[in-house]
Formats: sequence, C-alpha cells, structure tokens
Amino acid sequence: MNLFKQTVAGTLLALAAIGCAPKSDLDRKVDDLLAQMTLREKIGQMHQVSGGADLFEAAAKGEIGSILNCVDPEAINAVQRAAVEQSRLHIPILVSRDVIHGFRTIFPIPLGLAATFDPALVEQGARVAAIEATASGVRWTFSPMLDIARDPRWGRVAEGSGEDPYLDALMGVAMVKGYQGDDFTDPSSMAACLKHFVGYGAAEGGRDYNSTMISERSLRNTYLPAFQACVDAGALSLMTSFNEIDGIPSTGNSFLLRDILRGEWDFDGMVVTDWNSSGEMVAHGYAKDLKHATELAVNAGVDMDMMSFGFATFIEELVKEGKIAEKSIDEAVRNILRLKFRLGLFENPYVDAQHARAKVYAPEHLAAAKQSAVESAILLQNRNNVLPLDKTRTILVTGPMADAPYDQLGTWAFDGEPEHTVTPLQALREEYNVIYEPGLKYSRDTDTRSFAKVRAAAACAEAVVVCVGEEAILSGEAHSLSKLHLQGAQSELIAEVRKSGKPVIVVVIAGRPLTIERDLANCDALLYSFHPGTMGGAAIADLIKGKAAPSGKTPMTFLRDAGQAPFYYNHNNTGRPCNGTETLLEDIPLHAGQTSLGCTSYYLDTGYGPLFPFGYGLSYTTFEYGNIKLNRSSFGLDDTIVVEFDLTNTGSRDGVEVAQLYTRDLVGSVVRPVKELKRFERVALTPGETKHLRFELPVAELAFWNRDMQFVVEPGAFQLWVAGDSASGTAHPFSVE
Ligand code: NOJ
Repeated sequence: MNLFKQTVAGTLLALAAIGCAPKSDLDRKVDDLLAQMTLREKIGQMHQVSGGADLFEAAAKGEIGSILNCVDPEAINAVQRAAVEQSRLHIPILVSRDVIHGFRTIFPIPLGLAATFDPALVEQGARVAAIEATASGVRWTFSPMLDIARDPRWGRVAEGSGEDPYLDALMGVAMVKGYQGDDFTDPSSMAACLKHFVGYGAAEGGRDYNSTMISERSLRNTYLPAFQACVDAGALSLMTSFNEIDGIPSTGNSFLLRDILRGEWDFDGMVVTDWNSSGEMVAHGYAKDLKHATELAVNAGVDMDMMSFGFATFIEELVKEGKIAEKSIDEAVRNILRLKFRLGLFENPYVDAQHARAKVYAPEHLAAAKQSAVESAILLQNRNNVLPLDKTRTILVTGPMADAPYDQLGTWAFDGEPEHTVTPLQALREEYNVIYEPGLKYSRDTDTRSFAKVRAAAACAEAVVVCVGEEAILSGEAHSLSKLHLQGAQSELIAEVRKSGKPVIVVVIAGRPLTIERDLANCDALLYSFHPGTMGGAAIADLIKGKAAPSGKTPMTFLRDAGQAPFYYNHNNTGRPCNGTETLLEDIPLHAGQTSLGCTSYYLDTGYGPLFPFGYGLSYTTFEYGNIKLNRSSFGLDDTIVVEFDLTNTGSRDGVEVAQLYTRDLVGSVVRPVKELKRFERVALTPGETKHLRFELPVAELAFWNRDMQFVVEPGAFQLWVAGDSASGTAHPFSVE
C-alpha cells in the first residue's frame, strides 16, 4: 500500500470509528436496500445453488442470491424474471459459471497461457471469454485460479499459472482485467473470482483436496502475493479453498478471511465458498455438523455459500441462538449487494437471448485463441533443426491426440464444442500430403495391434508427426496421478516410429508437465502444447510448417521422474546443495562404505536436476545475451536497479525470445530462494538483429517477509541474472546498503 492510500485509508477508518465516514453512492444504495430486508431475505442472498429455470419458485421468494452452471440464456432470463419481478425486493440473481479458459472459443488451459509469458495476450483472451459468456447471461466467472503449483501430480496444475509467484500474479491480474473490463456495469463485464484462497496447490503428495502445511511466512512470500496483486487490481470476488492449512480449513479461517483479506488488503468484494467447502469442514473434523460448519464459515468471514445448503438451513437459528451476530450477516449481504450493484444488475438484469449465439466464435476470438496456442507451445528439443518441416511434402500423422477434438480442449471446457475444434490432423492436412494412422485410439490405450500399419505408413512418409499426451479427463480437479509418464502404449508408439529412420516429431498435448525423458530419446523434435483449445491444431500446424516460430517457456519445472516432485526452481537452498559430482546408483561400488556416496541433497537414481528448468523453451533460431550492465553496483532502499543488455538473434530465422531477470538475496534473516523471477519481456528479433534492452527493478521489490514477519528489504549482497531460462546466465553481483 502506498503512503497516500495509507493516509486516506487511515482517515476513513478513523471517521468510520466515530461513525461518520462519508458514504459513497454505492454504499448508500446498498444500505438503503439492506435496511428493507428481513433476516430471511438476507439469508437468501447468501445462498448459491446449481441450476436454472428449476429454481424459479425459490427465486420468486427471494431465497437465492446466485446460481451456477446454467448457461441457457432463456432459462437465465426466466429465473431472473422470477427474482426481479416477483420477489418482494426485486433483487436480481448473480449468474455464475466456471469460464476458466474461454466460454465457447476455448483458449489453451491456464498453464498453457502462462507458458506464453504474454500477459497482454492473456488479458485479450479473458476479454473474449467475458464477451462470449456474458452474451449467455453469465456475469461471474470462477477464475483466475491463482494456486501456486509445484507438484505436477496434482491434476489442477492445468488450471493455474505454475510454480512462480511473480508470473502467477501477472497472469492473474491480466485475467481479472480482461474479464472485468474497464466498466463493471457494461453488460460484457464479468466479475472475476480469485481462487482458491489459499494454499490449495500445496496438497501433500499432489493428491487433490489433501492437507497442506504452509507456514505463515511461506504463505505470505509464496502463496498470497498473486491474490494481493489481483485484489489491488480490483478483483470483485474471491473463493475459499477446500484444503486446510496446519489444521484450519480455509473456509473457517478468520485469520485469512478477516485479518489478511479485509484487514490488511482492504478487500471490499465478495467471498464465496468452494462447492460445499463449508459442509466439508465436518469431514475434516473441524465442525461437528453442518450447522456448526455454517457458524464457523460465517464467523470466519464467508459471504456466500456454494452448495452446502447450510447457510439457507441454519443461519436463522444460529442468529437467534446468538452464535452469529446479525451484524455479520449484514456485512456479508452488503458485500453481495455491492457486487450486484457494481455489475449494474439492478438496471440490466436480463440478457439478450436472441443474440447470444451471434457473439461466439467471432473471427477475432478465433484469431486470439490461435495466437495464444501458438505462443503457448514450448519447443523442448529440435535435433539438427529438424523443425520446421518447411520443405517436406508427405508426412505420417499418428498418435491418439492427432484428432481428438474434445480432449485437446482440456479440463474445464464445459461450454466448448468439439465440433468447432481444429485438430492437428485437420490443420496439417491443409499443409501436407497426410497419411493418417492413429496407432492408438486414446491416450490410455494399450492395444498395439495397429502398430504394424503405422510402421508400414511411416515407410511411405518423409517425416512422422506423433501426437500423444493426455485426454482432457486425466488432469483438472480430482485427477491427480502418481506416475507422470505418457499413459497407455504411447511411448511404445514413439519408439515404434523411431525404427522407421524417418525424422520423428513428437507433439505432446497434455494438462501437466509429464516425465518424457524416454520419449525425448526416441524423437528428433518435441513440441509441448498444454491442452491448446479450439484452435490448437491450427497453431500446431503453423509451428510445424514454420509459419510461426515457437516462443513458449516452461511455467513449471519439467521432472525427470515423478519421484522428484515437488520440485521448483525457486526453492530454498539446503545446507548441502548438489555440486554436480554426485554418485549415481550405477557408480556405487559393491559393499560401499556409508560415506562414499557423497553427502549432498539429491536422488541416487535421478540425480538432482530437472529434465527442463522453469522458463525454458527453444525457438527455430538462437539468441545470445551480451553486455549485461547494471547502472550501479550498490543501491539504496529507494533506488531502482536498471539492467541493460543486448539480445541478438544469432540464427537464421525470425524468433521471439522471452528475456528473464532473476535475483538472489544471498544472506537473509531467513533462508531465501536460490532464484526469483522479477521481470520478463517477449522480444521479437529478425536474423542477425540486436536489440538493446533494459529492465527496471525498484529495490523495494526485493522485499520479503523476514524473520520478524515484516515485509522488508534486508540490506546485503545480491546476485542478478538476465537469461533465457532459470538455469542459465552468469550471476552479476550487487549490494543494497
Ligand atoms: C469446485 C472447484 O474446486 C472450483 O474451482 C469451482 O469453481 C467450483 N467447483 C464450481 O464449479
């Protein structure tokens, strides 16, 4: 919070304390309406149910504040009409949906969007999603998911921006801006919902819904910053998470919901539970029954209940018993009404059902989806520059993901329509003479009987494109895995086509970073595309043909083996970091004495390093960083570090490089991460071209929550890197005095 904001907030708080804070027009409207409401009507506003026209009666009685999962504009208008025309106070219903990476035009899954390192494009995608979804009457989306994810076994890594807090914050803010637009009352504006508050991605063992153990410091340094950034960017709502942290379920955690969210961050938006996350406090063993769970949730600071029915059933009783103060109910309802007024729902409750369909799949929507899919694809290997296949005429296309229109949409594509999907097979047919032999029917298929046909077809082709990966259902909510290699006989299929001696290009279309070391050995090039959405095939074909060049970078570390998880680049150092001289299993002498194995932090079988580090990705050209210079070697707390450098395209094709700036705080009052991403920029360069670039980093952005739980910059020695990924570059020392 800046000083001005602090002073203004301080003054308002002081005025509020003596009961004479100036009320905004919005607050006045909210209070006027609240004053007319009965307790039952207030409780109705706090109740969110799944459904549509079937909720007509409840809406007419003012018993529902919001619905989810209805996208039929006629049904939405019908239930809205009941609320607006028949309920006593005519309060409109807030219509919500999981619009996570597009509505009808599906964009790459959020992990793929993060791989673009292009927040402006992500904002554009969120705008498209809002235009399409609001045309059907949806004014509230449960996105962005800001959960830091450092364990690819967790299926929901697909839905977030990966392992880095800075990238996560930038992508989150881009989505919030895109969904909400400049004017909330505009009918195409859709309220964002920051989720899941908080720590959900730290599920032990990567198993969904599992417990987490996160210290307050780690919460503040790693898990909370993206939420705070999005709150500062004006996000209108937030969802509590399923998990508990150190024994306290988030839905009943007043430290998170009241002290931090409302107290420290001044959030005046609305807080909703996740689906029955209030009721689940009973299974956690934190509440003795649903009534108790309701008491805990409301008192902790939840405004709206998604699908536990506890609020609707028990609040009245709990208020009568004095277990919930009516003042807490008023506070919750204020937050709900404020959101409804902000969205202009009272003036504009209905949707133009006639024209809903006309707003979807606009050419510019498809173009943005395609560009997002192009920028999200990560080239992980390209031996002998086998890609692009710009001179090849006949290719064999094989693999279960080559023509899987539903699966390439990825998780949370409820409203995506496979019949509108462009698959790699369809798009490659526009560019090449294609021989198509799928080899396997779906990603888990183990039936190798048609491999013989694939082999025969490979003999007739100049190159083979193998599209493998994961069906949509293998990632996303509740879809965690303990093994991360390609499912079914997909690796065998790659090995099979390898025998043809033809160049083999593997395209992985998946919801998470898989362990693909074995497959890399069996192919010349590997392009990784996190489920790329409606236009994914068109993007992949352009990349293979060379009409576009890959520029995506890994938003999560790629592991060699699932047993390495959790593994992330920005970890703290151990007292015995790996030094590259570690003894591996095969090198251990028989009857070795205990100390002969070296004493650093690594695995005997996989060693230490990842398969690919965070921020990694190749292009069809090469880049060189040079003349990296800092404006000074020593800085004061109010200074700005200016890093200038030259970036040159040293290859023979056009390309885009994501230049990245990392820092390390060498000694802290608590152990600090070995590297932290602080800036990045996408830079387009023609062959031979050099651009002189600069990153500016205020020293204040080196602050962290220290030993005394204060957010400060601790003076001392630092290092800085400018490079194309988190594992490259040379360290440049500087100090803060
Ligand atoms: C449960 C999921 O955890 C959450 O992300 C989603 O928004 C809700 N269900 C509503 O579908």
